[in-house]
Amino acid sequence: MTVLVQGISQLVTNDPALGEGPLGVVRDAALVLDGERVLWAGTAASASDVGADERVDVGGRAVLPGWVDSHTHLVFDGDRAAEFTARMAGEAYEAGGIMTTVHATREASDEQLTGLVQARLAEMLRGGTTTVETKTGYGLSFVDEVRSARIADATCDVTTFLGAHLVPADFAGDIDGYLDLVCGQMLDGVLAALSGPPGGYFIDVFCEDGAFDEARSRRVLAAGQRVGLGLKVHGNQLGYGPGVRLAVDAGATSVDHCTYLTDEDIDLLAGSSTVATLLPTCDLSTRQPAAPGRRLADAGATIALASNCNPGTSYTSSMNLVVALGVLQCGLTADEAVRAATAGGAAALGLTDVGVLRPGAFADLHVLDAPSHDHLAYRVGMPLTHAVWRRGKQVA
Ligand code: NIG
Repeated sequence: MTVLVQGISQLVTNDPALGEGPLGVVRDAALVLDGERVLWAGTAASASDVGADERVDVGGRAVLPGWVDSHTHLVFDGDRAAEFTARMAGEAYEAGGIMTTVHATREASDEQLTGLVQARLAEMLRGGTTTVETKTGYGLSFVDEVRSARIADATCDVTTFLGAHLVPADFAGDIDGYLDLVCGQMLDGVLAALSGPPGGYFIDVFCEDGAFDEARSRRVLAAGQRVGLGLKVHGNQLGYGPGVRLAVDAGATSVDHCTYLTDEDIDLLAGSSTVATLLPTCDLSTRQPAAPGRRLADAGATIALASNCNPGTSYTSSMNLVVALGVLQCGLTADEAVRAATAGGAAALGLTDVGVLRPGAFADLHVLDAPSHDHLAYRVGMPLTHAVWRRGKQVA
């Protein structure tokens, strides 16, 4: 069945061949959907030649590709409001808080965890997010990492194995013993639990003081690469460090956080295909400086913006807010921020059929209650998601 979507004041296609600028903007636009894919995109005037079984009028609103949230940690139970409150009163963020969530997550049943992830995904969909990556990393034992991977794979679009999130208490003082487990039995168990070939999945490591150093992080990435997983790095979140260099050297698809970047880090990112993923709600919630989006954009790096939804450092999945902060905090233009949260997120996941609205792409539409995308930062905090379509069906 084909559907003509009309009454679009501004259509962001992210395909420069279809419209103006890098966002490929078409004004007074229309779209034709065929099942779960886009069949046609162009001006309303030229749409009169295109037939369709059904018509939907969005009433002069902007239509964007659905958000691609390329960095989340959704498989968890419990919250850490007390830790957040203490932080707002002056305590520093410490990675050790992750263990609070590990304990709560280990206690939850498979059914509880699955229900929690599904509820979070439903909330994200209502906020315009139509593609979601999520990570393991709150299990940190063979059994709990494998079941986290299975739950993530059954519920989310892209799964990342983050057994190397922190060293759990039972391995205290034996980091390398824990990495033997992560890179051996745990990795094998996770691979066996996944429903598709390894190329559609990622391995990640938290490369930071207090988590894993450069050599150990390299070991984790090498183990993932050996079995065909894509590579990601959590790096440069809490201070300057080797994360970006490591990610670029290893050919990682993305390096995430990028809050503390030297000029050399920025040059490395600009000269590579590794995506710099910025997580502005995390920077805000941990009282870190804003990630240097402007410097990255000026250097020509590919940027993604993501929510980092997790109970410790960013308990929000609002990509509308993330995009607004990308502009207001990180210095991106409205165009750059929207692109980073759509096509940039897709690049950070190695996907080509989401984050764009060109013929053949998934029909994932985010209809804003605004005439153009720049209202997201201009009217920060306002409920601007009017409707959401995922795979050709209106879901919110
Ligand atoms: O991306 N950086 C490490 N991991 C998460 C935080 C996890 C937590 O504190 O629970 C992050 O911020």
